[in-house]
Amino acid sequence: MKNIVVLISGNGSNLQAMIDACAQERINGTLRAVFSNKAEAYGLERAREAGIAARALSAGNFDSREAFDLQLMQEIDAYAPDVVVLAGYMRILSPAFVANYRGRLLNIHPSLLPKYPGLHTHRQALANGDREHGTSVHFVTEELDGGPVILQAKIPVFEGDNEEDIAARVQHQEHAIYPLVVGWFLEGRLTMKEGRAWLDGQLLPAQGYAADE
Ligand code: GAR
Repeated sequence: MKNIVVLISGNGSNLQAMIDACAQERINGTLRAVFSNKAEAYGLERAREAGIAARALSAGNFDSREAFDLQLMQEIDAYAPDVVVLAGYMRILSPAFVANYRGRLLNIHPSLLPKYPGLHTHRQALANGDREHGTSVHFVTEELDGGPVILQAKIPVFEGDNEEDIAARVQHQEHAIYPLVVGWFLEGRLTMKEGRAWLDGQLLPAQGYAADE
């Protein structure tokens, strides 16, 4: 069985989608551990409820980002992860962390990358009058939210929507596409080579699988 480690900072609804997908064998892997940089993250409860090791590390206890990430890496590596899944992990990663998991580090970001890297993506989509918004699963590289996109899901933005409306619509899609991608990865169908994402030996376009533009 392949080992999955998930990093969270909050609610953990994407973690829950992974837990459910593993239970239903849509993902052929075992969730070995969940780490959070916030002790109060509800996702830690979800992990414990599912019988998964759950651990919080507080940045306040470390002198630097590098020291925090080094400790986190040591603890993660004790689970020999085949994939490390960032699921709402809201902390900048050190270059050493990214290098350690290069090619097996996935993230989900709530925008149609390369649009809106960083924070407040829903707010920006609304402010710009976008009629279309969405979410992207990508490999993580040194560039913040800049690694190769694997799969995106689009949502419509309607007149009168607020940030919560859009966030809910985006998350509904996230819960479908993120387990799908983790499943592909653990089946060996998905790789990162030369800084690009490949599925079944085919180079994925810049906007990921089945991009329509
Ligand atoms: C998700 O919508 C994810 O796309 C976003 O945080 C949310 C976490 O929700 N991630 C980022 O913004 C990363 N830059 P969850 O804790 O319920 O899974």
